[in-house]
Amino acid sequence: NKRVVSGIQPTGNLHLGNYLGAIRNWVRMQEENECLFFLADLHAITVHNDPATLRGNIREMAATVLAAGIDPARSILFRQAHVPAHAELCWLLNGTARIGWLNRMTQFKEKSGKNREGASVGLYAYPVLQAADILAYQATHVPVGEDQKQHLELARDIATKFNTDFGIELFMLPEPIIPPAAARIMSLRDGTAKMSKSDPSDMSRINLTDDADMIMQKIRKAKTDPEPLPEDPAELEGRPEARNLVGIAAALTDRTPAEVLAEHGGQGFGQFKPMLGEIVVTTIEPISKRIAEFRDDPAELDRILAQGAEKAREIAAPTLAGAYAAMGL
Ligand code: TYM
Repeated sequence: NKRVVSGIQPTGNLHLGNYLGAIRNWVRMQEENECLFFLADLHAITVHNDPATLRGNIREMAATVLAAGIDPARSILFRQAHVPAHAELCWLLNGTARIGWLNRMTQFKEKSGKNREGASVGLYAYPVLQAADILAYQATHVPVGEDQKQHLELARDIATKFNTDFGIELFMLPEPIIPPAAARIMSLRDGTAKMSKSDPSDMSRINLTDDADMIMQKIRKAKTDPEPLPEDPAELEGRPEARNLVGIAAALTDRTPAEVLAEHGGQGFGQFKPMLGEIVVTTIEPISKRIAEFRDDPAELDRILAQGAEKAREIAAPTLAGAYAAMGL
């Protein structure tokens, strides 16, 4: 039996990378599986936190995830902070996780940058909380983009060590689900940098709230090289911007890059970009309209999140109790 668990940080807008890398898979997986999806608000406080902004971002992200197609009748949608099991299990797992393991986490190195001594303890321990998020629910599958793969491996290492140390088969080992063509959507301004909420240039990403004109403009201005598209995907090697745009087209139309190039190979970007812009608009525009509708009904958003939290608390309770008992607490 599958149990799907995943989360997203409520920091600003959702972008095309989040959507194609993760949320679209969430929506697809909820058709046939038991799913729990949450807003990782406890993770959001590990960097500078303005409470009023966070409160607004949480509602905005709830509206966005629902607009993207998460159906609260099928999936359990909630906020991490509403389910104390996340923070509790995180503390228990801090006894199992090793400092050497956390020292290898590339996301901490990127996010702390040059000021490592000044980073919060939470930013360092972040992956242990992520392991708790997953293990508390006995998740079997975790749909994420490629940048979360290392955190998933850590969650498996923590689960294995806990089970071994305490001689109990308590935690399941979760499998990451990473989409082939959209594992890592890159910035529109730099094909070697990930599309990201924290990039200062809004032109680097497509937001789910962008309207059709804005999307067409961003694709038109996207960085490219002067060569036409190749017919052979192997020739995208060394052309990161071309590779990214072909990957986006492939993901949006559920094809492989080879299939996209079979149709568009030989075209220049002047021809390819308007086509790409249109398929992006077709996907994003209906979502951005629904975001506005959900945003208008904050009471309904709060009701959905409260109901989700109640169900999530019930599902996590036996595993949390099992962890306390196994540790002699
Ligand atoms: P976050 O909020 O940064 O991103 C949410 C999801 O979007 C994916 N993603 C991308 N996929 C493809 N291309 C991109 N450019 C791109 N940018 C982001 C991420 O891989 C992620 O799946 N730590 C997590 C949140 C989290 C979580 C969890 C996820 C907390 N607990 C437990 C899974 C399970 C994060 O910061 O994702």
